Order: sequence, then structure tokens, then C-alpha cells
Amino acid sequence: MWPPARRRSSCQLTHVCPGITAPPATTRHAHGHLRDATWPHVVDINEPWTYARGVGPSTVRQRTSTQAGQAVYSPLVLRIYDLYVLGFSCSLIWKCPAARLLRLYEEHVGRHHLDVGVGTGYYLKRARFRIGAPEITLFDLNPNSLEHAARRIAHYQPKTVEGDILEPNHLPRRYYDSISLNFLLHCLPDGGAGKWRLFDHLIPTLAEDGLVFGSTLLGRDLPLLRRQRLFMTVYNGKGIFSNQHDSPERLQAELQRRFQRVHIEQVGAGALFVASGPR
Ligand SMILES: C[S@@+](CC[C@H](N)C(=O)[O-])C[C@H]1O[C@@H](n2cnc3c(N)ncnc32)[C@H](O)[C@@H]1O
Repeated sequence: MWPPARRRSSCQLTHVCPGITAPPATTRHAHGHLRDATWPHVVDINEPWTYARGVGPSTVRQRTSTQAGQAVYSPLVLRIYDLYVLGFSCSLIWKCPAARLLRLYEEHVGRHHLDVGVGTGYYLKRARFRIGAPEITLFDLNPNSLEHAARRIAHYQPKTVEGDILEPNHLPRRYYDSISLNFLLHCLPDGGAGKWRLFDHLIPTLAEDGLVFGSTLLGRDLPLLRRQRLFMTVYNGKGIFSNQHDSPERLQAELQRRFQRVHIEQVGAGALFVASGPR
């Protein structure tokens, strides 16, 4: 069955998503939760769910309406992404080094982890996990990113879900111990109901003591360096970024509206955040 059900104190299935039929068989995973013995390689989530078999990592596809903020991630761009974005830009433009973001990642990844906006899978590839190998789900709107990241961390056998995080999702409920959102928020369009609704879509997927962590570049109410302002203007003009209205206060307010515990640290033009205890 997917989404898989979490095992808590007993061996019972504690949650089954509405509308999703029970699997023909389940196996008990070595680490104690139940998972599908017939996990499909490719699942097309255009309701009703249809199951098909394919090759490669398990993939779930979901119909989407929003495409903004992901179009730039072609296979070619992904090949130079680590060098240009995480090497050059993070350190020299944003003053928010990738090493700091990697540390945030290592500190907060839990046993069942969901990465949203996966890019190249850089952190997952490099992170040293305190808790041993996590069970990883990758979520992204762009199939190139999903494929690239999944290939890079194939040894963790990640599940991949193609979908728009600004839309409701079919991810497992009350399941993830940690959810990472790195350099995603500044790519999301802020029109309509606003980019911040992604938290409303993710909160139901969090396990009881789960947390959300991540980083974003802020485009407003920060004393930006001249080169930072220049790159923000160009990227916003091209639609790669949409962060003209993202201020430190806005980030804090949107997180505090939804979580009881919020920690934000400013590093250069970036803000690193950790939030837990959904309200
Ligand atoms: C700037 S990259 C960040 C990659 C990586 N997390 C990092 O920190 O280097 C943004 C990623 O978010 C994805 N993305 C953009 N909009 C999205 C959306 N609405 N839903 C899901 N993923 C999205 C893009 O395809 C891309 O993989």
C-alpha cells in the first residue's frame, strides 16, 4: 500500500488515507513499520489511482496546475547546479554557504524523511545521518530534478512523487519525522492563496513529533548587498525567483501562524528555519 501506514506501539495500521484501497499484502519492515509488499514502481495519481509497473525507483505522479518556479531545471542546468548555485552563488552572492545548509540538514533529518523541491539531491547525497539511513521520499514538480536526485541517492531506494506542493497532495498522513524545504520558498509564486499554503499541505503528513526545516532567500526588508539586490532583481524578472514580498517578518509570521515552535536564523540573504508542533 502506498502511502504506507506507520506502526506505533502496536502492530496495527494506524492510518489509512481515505479513498485508497488496502493493498493485497503488507510486509513488516525491519525498522518496525508496515509497507507494501507489492510497492508499485510507477503510480499515476490522477484520481482514481492507477497502478502500473515500470523500471527504476518507485515513482508517483500527480496532476498539477502550477508550473512556475521549476521550468529552469533542465538536465543541463542540473548538471551545473551544484557548482553554480551551491558553490558559487551560495557563498559569494548570498553569503549563505551550502556547508551551513548541509549542517542544518544533518541536524534535522529523521527516520522517515520527505524532501520537497529536491534539485540535484545534493544534501541527501552528502549528509551523514545520525540516525542511520533514513527512508526517503522525494517530491518535486520537475521530473528532471526527481530523476537526477533519485539516481544520485539510488542506494537509499527513495520513493519519488511528482507534484506541485502548492496543490493538495496524496502523501501519507501523519508519517514523516522530518520534511526539508531548501531553497524552495523563494521559487514559489506568491499569487492567489499564496506560497505559504504549502505548509498547510505538508502539516497533515507530519508524524506526531515531526518537524519541518529548510532555507530560503529573502527579497524584502533585508540590508542586501548591491550584488545580492542585482541578482534578486534579475531572477525575479525571469520568474526563477518570486521573493519580492518575502521578508524576515513574513516568514516568521507565516510559520508562527501554523507552528508552536519556530526557530529562524538569518545567514546572509538566507533564512534557515525549523518549525514543529503544528497548531
Ligand atoms: C532552487 S531548487 C532547490 C533545490 C535544493 N533543495 C537545494 O537546496 O539546492 C528548487 C526546486 O524546487 C522545485 N520546485 C519548484 N516549484 C515547485 C513546486 N511548486 N512544487 C514542487 N517542487 C517545486 C524545482 O523543480 C527545483 O527542483
